[in-house]
Amino acid sequence: MARESATYIHGHHESVLRSHSWRTAENSAAYLLPHLKADHRILDIGCGPGTITADLAERVPNGHVTGADRAETIVDQSRNLTAERCLTNVDFTVADVHALEFEDDTFDIVHAHQVLQHVGDPVQALEEMRRVTKPGGIVAARDSDYAAFTWFPGSRGLTDWLDLYERVARAGGGEPDAGRRLKSWALKAGFSEASVEATSSTWTFANEEDRRWWGDLWKDRSLHSDFAKQAVAGGHAVQEELQAISDAWKAWGEAEESWLMIPHGEILCRASIQLGQTAAGLVVSRVAGSGPSHSTFKHQRRSGGEPLGREFSAPRPVLLELQASATEERRGAPARHARPQGTWPLSWENTATFTR
Ligand SMILES: C[S@@+](CC[C@H](N)C(=O)[O-])C[C@H]1O[C@@H](n2cnc3c(N)ncnc32)[C@H](O)[C@@H]1O
Repeated sequence: MARESATYIHGHHESVLRSHSWRTAENSAAYLLPHLKADHRILDIGCGPGTITADLAERVPNGHVTGADRAETIVDQSRNLTAERCLTNVDFTVADVHALEFEDDTFDIVHAHQVLQHVGDPVQALEEMRRVTKPGGIVAARDSDYAAFTWFPGSRGLTDWLDLYERVARAGGGEPDAGRRLKSWALKAGFSEASVEATSSTWTFANEEDRRWWGDLWKDRSLHSDFAKQAVAGGHAVQEELQAISDAWKAWGEAEESWLMIPHGEILCRASIQLGQTAAGLVVSRVAGSGPSHSTFKHQRRSGGEPLGREFSAPRPVLLELQASATEERRGAPARHARPQGTWPLSWENTATFTR
């Protein structure tokens, strides 16, 4: 499976971590919190400095949280944080969201905060997140949408910053306007529309402490983070332009009237829906009883239509083969299956579900 092809443009400079370490489950994952249960097993992929990961661990005292990130240095930092907070139900590992080294159906919740905007293939990432989520579990993602950032007062320097940020992010292989795309990526990853709850929420920086903090950290990020290095190395900006952007953030942070709103798209995707979609326009939905040797499935019409209502069991290897085939079909490859092979305990009409 292809691994990461994008560059993480922020890097982990102190000015970046000052921002990411401010994040909590309350201010960054409120849409997910009502769905947590005390014994849940959670994967927090792209966990960064681990402040959200640690909060999630506190909310599942009888469960377990695994934090994972592609950057080894930040994984070490997360370990230190959770040790300081005396959390014993959390561990960390280095991992790429495109190719996770976990078994199928491992986690109740797989969560990614501000990660999909930075990855080379967000659809593949969501497919992989779904693969390691148990039937009935949740794939959750939240990403900001840079083009929808809104601030006051107007500032030439901040407009230049946004323009530069979007160019650098896309040159690195990411998508800075990810928030508006999350739902469509989930559908491309094979979730039915009915299985995806797409919402939005915001961060607002307006009071004196908040505006000074945000202005100050972007004053520094604009000059010293990996974003600044890549802007110059990629020929997107010269040092004087970065300095002007940095000065604009400083001025914005110091002005009493300043206000900034950062919008985020959010998705909660139920992993119980759809295994794959056949060329005949039917989806195969995993409904219950997944085990090492078999799973129980239901098929339904495409686009969230009424389930046809017939449930059946099938040997797991056959269904995994169908899943792989359906994923290839979504990517434009010819269908591999005219009809499932193997000795299924199926009636003819169920078998016909898979006929092209
Ligand atoms: C913007 S930070 C978000 C960190 C954390 N989730 C938070 O909100 O505070 C994005 C993180 O995703 C990680 N990352 C980027 N690409 C990744 C990939 N392909 N697989 C796993 N992690 C990745 C980066 O190393 C970085 O720590």
